[in-house]
Amino acid sequence: MAILVTGGAGYIGSHTVLALLERGDDVVVLDNLYNASRESINRVEKLAGKKAVFVEGDVLDRECLRELFASHDISSVIHFAALKAVGESTRLPLEYYQNNVSGTLILLEEMRNAGVWNFIFSSSATVYGADAPVPYVETLPIGGTTSPYGTSKFMIELIMRDFAKAEPQFKAIALRYFNPVGAHESGEIGEDPTGIPNNLLPYIAQVAIGRLDKLGVFGGDYDTPDGTCQRDYIHVVDLAEGHLKALDHLKKTDGYKAYNLGGGKGFSVLEMIKAFEEASGKTIAYEIKPRRDGDLPAFWADAALANKELNWRVTRGIDEMMRDTWKWQSQNPNGFR
Ligand code: NAD
Ligand code: WQD
Repeated sequence: MAILVTGGAGYIGSHTVLALLERGDDVVVLDNLYNASRESINRVEKLAGKKAVFVEGDVLDRECLRELFASHDISSVIHFAALKAVGESTRLPLEYYQNNVSGTLILLEEMRNAGVWNFIFSSSATVYGADAPVPYVETLPIGGTTSPYGTSKFMIELIMRDFAKAEPQFKAIALRYFNPVGAHESGEIGEDPTGIPNNLLPYIAQVAIGRLDKLGVFGGDYDTPDGTCQRDYIHVVDLAEGHLKALDHLKKTDGYKAYNLGGGKGFSVLEMIKAFEEASGKTIAYEIKPRRDGDLPAFWADAALANKELNWRVTRGIDEMMRDTWKWQSQNPNGFR
């Protein structure tokens, strides 16, 4: 039996495929390479000393999924494939709903046709919406999302809930990630954004390597200890391990359930800059800029449920996040290219 990993060539997917191969699982990766390189899977296979099956294809392509389920014995699906840029989603809402929501619907239909019932989904802290009190806990209502990207994740969670109510065999876990950062400790795989990065850590890393001049810090006048926003950053390898724990948990559970994957602590933008400088020995030029539209001042996870039920917790702190980001970026100044 193999695990199907959609979006497995991407940032979080590649780290999860590595963790699965390392523990001996067979893996089939489905990725259309829209935001990834085939090289990431080559490197994963080298690190693991084991091959995955790679299928270049799209979750929107029903025929491709049918053929994939017919030719491989799939026990479970981890579904990473999605478009993920919050700002872009406000300009391209139809593309985001099509790729993320329709793509998931087609995948679930073809899983049902093939009799595959175990499903892990990449959700996001953004499903808690703009007014949720901090820390975010799973008992809070979800919704009130402020971008088509966030709404697509909210809609998919509702679809999972309803499908699990209607189909007793369907077992599904939504993992609500906080802010994934870092890279594999080998420095061989990591986050490789195309164009100018939207997210903080890739931006800082590209300033450090000299690809970008200066970081703009979005807002210095928030009601936070140093005036900059606070987020719950989580090492991508801890996050990958959360998926293995969730897969194990599916064996003992029924229905649909959501878990926060975060460290439970907020770090400010200035703290992140300082930690990166310490880890890399580089000075990061920055200037305080106006606030970015849609940014929330501060949020972090209550991760007690995942600690208790998935037997999962973060084991890597801010120093490891920075060390591994820098290792990846300095060894691969142009990413996988
Ligand atoms: P990523 O872009 O690196 O990975 C997504 C992968 O999916 C890419 O390899 C891309 O080529 C592939 N893909 C996209 N659409 C596809 C389609 N229709 N068919 C097949 N493949 C497709 O992103 P990531 O950071 O690894 O994110 C993985 C998942 O986690 C996404 O669902 C994302 O929304 C979610 N998530 C990410 C973050 C984050 O900050 N990185 C936070 C919360 C949730
Ligand atoms: C972090 C902090 C910025 C860039 C987004 C999505 C979220 C999730 C993760 C998918 C914020 C500040 C950033 C820069 C800066 N993705 N910043 N200068 O916005 O918390 O979360 O990615 O689900 O849904 O919204 O992450 O890395 O963009 O920003 O000052 O050039 O860094 O203002 O405070 P964010 P981020």
